[in-house]
Amino acid sequence: MPKTIVGSHAKDKQLESNILQISQEAKALKKQYADVIDATVGMLHHEDGTIFKFQSVESQLHLLADPEMYAYAPVRGTKNFDEGVFDWVFGPLANQFRETFHHSVIPTTGGSGAVSNTFFNFNDFGQKVLIPNHYWTPYENFAFEANIGLETFLMYDENLHFNRQDFEQKAKSLAAAQGRLSVLLNDPCNNPTGLCMSVEDWKFVVSVLNEVNRTGVPVILIQDIAYIDYQMKETSISREVFQSYLDLDEDVLVVVIFSGSKTFSLYGFRIGAQIGLSKNKSNIDNFLRVGDYSVRGRFSSVSQPAMSIIGKIFTDPMLKKNFQDELVLSRKVLLDRATLFLEEVKKQDLKILPYCGGFFVAIKTENKNIFKDLVSDHVFVIQMGGLIRIAISSLKLAEIPRLVQILKKHV
Ligand SMILES: Cc1ncc(COP(=O)(O)O)c(C=O)c1O
Repeated sequence: MPKTIVGSHAKDKQLESNILQISQEAKALKKQYADVIDATVGMLHHEDGTIFKFQSVESQLHLLADPEMYAYAPVRGTKNFDEGVFDWVFGPLANQFRETFHHSVIPTTGGSGAVSNTFFNFNDFGQKVLIPNHYWTPYENFAFEANIGLETFLMYDENLHFNRQDFEQKAKSLAAAQGRLSVLLNDPCNNPTGLCMSVEDWKFVVSVLNEVNRTGVPVILIQDIAYIDYQMKETSISREVFQSYLDLDEDVLVVVIFSGSKTFSLYGFRIGAQIGLSKNKSNIDNFLRVGDYSVRGRFSSVSQPAMSIIGKIFTDPMLKKNFQDELVLSRKVLLDRATLFLEEVKKQDLKILPYCGGFFVAIKTENKNIFKDLVSDHVFVIQMGGLIRIAISSLKLAEIPRLVQILKKHV
């Protein structure tokens, strides 16, 4: 028998169409040709091409005392971080949620670490998590690492609204087939499509989860809110979909995925959180028990400087206010690009999927070679199952008219 250096479970691992890799290719070509348009990576940039940093984050970074910077971060997070994240995420509903749900916050290495831990701990090996057919492709990597799979339902109905019917059908059949239902919804501002589900969609999802729960199978709802602060709405309104959680049956576990990368532009620091909510205390006891263990067992703990900064911003009213003011500006940067993009696609009579916020707009395409075709015109986007995803977060306004013309040519 030939010797195999990797374990049998790892023999088929191959990182394909890695977004970060494609972005490196775009950057390399840009060094040779000034007209290269790089709309690949989900990091917010200014018009001059520099990363959008928040001054309230930057100033705190330089003021950290040595222990706040260099020491190991506590596995369970600091009180300021945990409570601050909870208040930030649920906004006007935070206190009601504290009274209604047992809850816990587990700091993780970005939203990625949060999804990865959740996949690993809340499924049996070989089971599948239900997600819409358009999704952020790293979910596949998190699933593979967790020895699980993904099952998809159609994201859109014929009116380009959330496809309630297909969701219900797939949720019920998956639950019946495997005796468990884990659902992941990346909402609001879905990556890659820009879809925002309505409050009614969420109420519908909750009613289906309750129905499945009453058949006696475990039900886990994972809501990835990475782009929640980039919905083109006031913070108080952008949290309204959480209202639907109040109707959840006692046994259902919710895991909300928070990303410090997107909210604070702290991409390289690797900070995020899993927020567990359930009306059933033992669900949250279990959530904490397995979550703590996995943090220690997989990456030990998270970035201390990032945890310190977030803890400070969320607990000091003045800092929080400054940060909120800056967020208005960062949203405006995106909104200006999205508005111009929409004007240009209208001029070119090009159809895009409905956009409600977030870092991406998406266009459906039948062209299987679109990635290569666009690269031949020096345009880099991400191709994902019948769509191209355009990261307006890293575009410049001046690039948009030409970009749209080139898209029109190849779509
Ligand atoms: C949908 C979605 N979820 C989660 C993340 C996690 O990001 P991070 O691990 O940097 O927090 C991203 C990042 O691109 C994302 O697009």
